[in-house]
Amino acid sequence: MALSAAFILRQGLRCSRVVRSGSVFTTHTMPSRLLHQGDPPALPQLPVPHLQDTLTKYLKTVKPLVTEEEYMVTEEIVKKFGNSTGIGAKLQQKLEEKKKTTDNWLADWWINAAYLDCRGPLVVWSSPGLVFPLVEFKTLDDQLNYAAKVIAGTLDYKIMVDEKTVPVDRMGKDILDMSQYFKILGTCRIPGVTRDTIRFYGQEPDPPKHIVVAHNNHFFKIDVYGKHGKPLNVRQLVHQLRNVVERSTHPTVPVGILTTQNRNVWGKAYKMLRKDKVNKASLEEIQRCIFLVALDGPVVNPTGNVMTDAALKCVHGNGPQGYAGNRWYDKTIQFIIGKKGIVGLTYEHTPAEGPPIANLMDHIMDYINNSPKDNVQAEHTDPRPPAVELTRPQRLMFNVGQEVKQEIEDAKIALESLVGDLEMTCFKFTGFGKNFIKSQKMSPDSFIQMAIQLAFYRIHGEPGAHYESASTRKFVYGRTETIRSCSEESVAFAKAMLNPELNNAEKAQALRSAIDAHKNYAQNAVNGLGVDRHLLGLKLAAIEAGMDVPKLFMDVGYLRSSHMRLSTSQVPARCEAFMCFGPLVPDGYGCCYNPRGDAVFFGISAFNSSPETDSATFRSALEQSLMDMHDVALKEGLKSKL
Ligand code: COA
Repeated sequence: MALSAAFILRQGLRCSRVVRSGSVFTTHTMPSRLLHQGDPPALPQLPVPHLQDTLTKYLKTVKPLVTEEEYMVTEEIVKKFGNSTGIGAKLQQKLEEKKKTTDNWLADWWINAAYLDCRGPLVVWSSPGLVFPLVEFKTLDDQLNYAAKVIAGTLDYKIMVDEKTVPVDRMGKDILDMSQYFKILGTCRIPGVTRDTIRFYGQEPDPPKHIVVAHNNHFFKIDVYGKHGKPLNVRQLVHQLRNVVERSTHPTVPVGILTTQNRNVWGKAYKMLRKDKVNKASLEEIQRCIFLVALDGPVVNPTGNVMTDAALKCVHGNGPQGYAGNRWYDKTIQFIIGKKGIVGLTYEHTPAEGPPIANLMDHIMDYINNSPKDNVQAEHTDPRPPAVELTRPQRLMFNVGQEVKQEIEDAKIALESLVGDLEMTCFKFTGFGKNFIKSQKMSPDSFIQMAIQLAFYRIHGEPGAHYESASTRKFVYGRTETIRSCSEESVAFAKAMLNPELNNAEKAQALRSAIDAHKNYAQNAVNGLGVDRHLLGLKLAAIEAGMDVPKLFMDVGYLRSSHMRLSTSQVPARCEAFMCFGPLVPDGYGCCYNPRGDAVFFGISAFNSSPETDSATFRSALEQSLMDMHDVALKEGLKSKL
């Protein structure tokens, strides 16, 4: 996802290892049996693109974002960097050597540079929210019943994970790397003072068998497997959840809010907190759990738009005045079940992109839609005890001294300002969806991306550097590449659309050419032939070798083209859900979408502190752009049929 990309471009490289199971191993030595079910053909390695190819593509992406004079300077710097005896050639050789000795030359660098070395807060800046289809709860029973079904649905999904039978994803005829699917349950990021680590407890010899439930800032451990290792059923889970709620009627000190802090600050506080034996044990139970479930109260400060309210709750929990203390943001999967019916999750991004998370949600929704509706009724009227004797949920205690209390107060202040700054507008665009775009023989994703470019141009009168995530899971341990969606063609298209002097045919021509340019870049990106990961590798190779960071990375062309004012991502889901996240830069927008047959769900974000950006204005410009493009395509299509 776009979230950490700007940060990594500023980052250095210090170490390239990931902690697992108390031992240290590199990401590229992950057991290959975790890749797929059965015995599939081995996936190819992520390529190291040819240096000249990358530099040519790079210059093309810089051009629309700089002046002619600036472009000439960038061109000169790139020429020097890329000549056969230049620094680029030496660094390129290092990447090619690394490729020979690793399964994926980028994997270990990436996990550190994109995540574990980033010291900003996870909240807003890194962890996305995923809003589930909207539901309404009238009573506590409704809420607990739904929470129990979410838990049961996840445990049902986990059977496929444990048995390694998760259906293999495909892109066209290519099978995709599945390793991310095996890393999202039982995983936790552990704060460090200068770098975090990540632990995959689910892959340890004695994997966790419990979840943690948060309510009123209290944390409880619930064992979710009964006799013979069978998962608890919905009725048993409701019983356990009710026990938690009854034992936590008043809010307690919000220790969880510490996980919203800047990572260095949290890293220090964590060390302090862990000194106490009771705290240490509680921390370990939270970190080890399969996943966390936060039972929240109603939305604080509702906006009047329930989709936006849900998104904000998933992204930041309504801050210190709301439920941010009722979270553990280091945990990979954290479900949120609100009192009135907002349901979703927030996830820590280090181990996976959105698609495996959306896939888990789709499974949960199928599970819920196919399960009987009367569990709560049964719980009330059935006098029999639950089927197996249940272990009472264990309260996880924290001893909070003066120093930690102060850290909590500091965390509240820092979060309050972040929460106050983020604004979002989420909506279902109902004008049309993928079906219409396909009927016009255009790529739906490229069409939406060009609508985003047009919306930006419409508001700002200039193009915005634009990040879209492309999956590189065709390759072993592949993660993402950036699609630089802003191109000379996208700018020409935006200008054409806004020019009343041009006729429909000219606009349609500009639209097709912008879409083709985007699709072409996207295809290169999914084939590991984009610009950004290669440049990152060259930069990190220089840093690792103790060399100066090449001038190319300090040049205005580089800085401007990587100041991603648009951070965007397609996360499709089978159900009416959408993902959302904060912008990547202070004067930017976040925009995540789930394109469906006849509609598109959008989650848009911006910062209040930027006088230039506003998510509601962006929504209007985006809807207008989509409809204008629709009309241009439709008119042109009709004309060609005459
Ligand atoms: N005419 C008709 N149909 C077309 C078309 C055309 N010209 N071009 C594409 N289509 C069809 C495709 O065949 C596809 O059909 P399907 O729905 O039957 O599969 C559909 O339209 C969608 O294709 P398109 O919109 O072009 O792209 P995509 O869905 O393949 O998405 C990416 C493109 C880049 C988003 C995708 O490859 C990717 O990498 N996704 C992962 C992103 C990610 O990781 N996000 C999470 C970050 S946290």
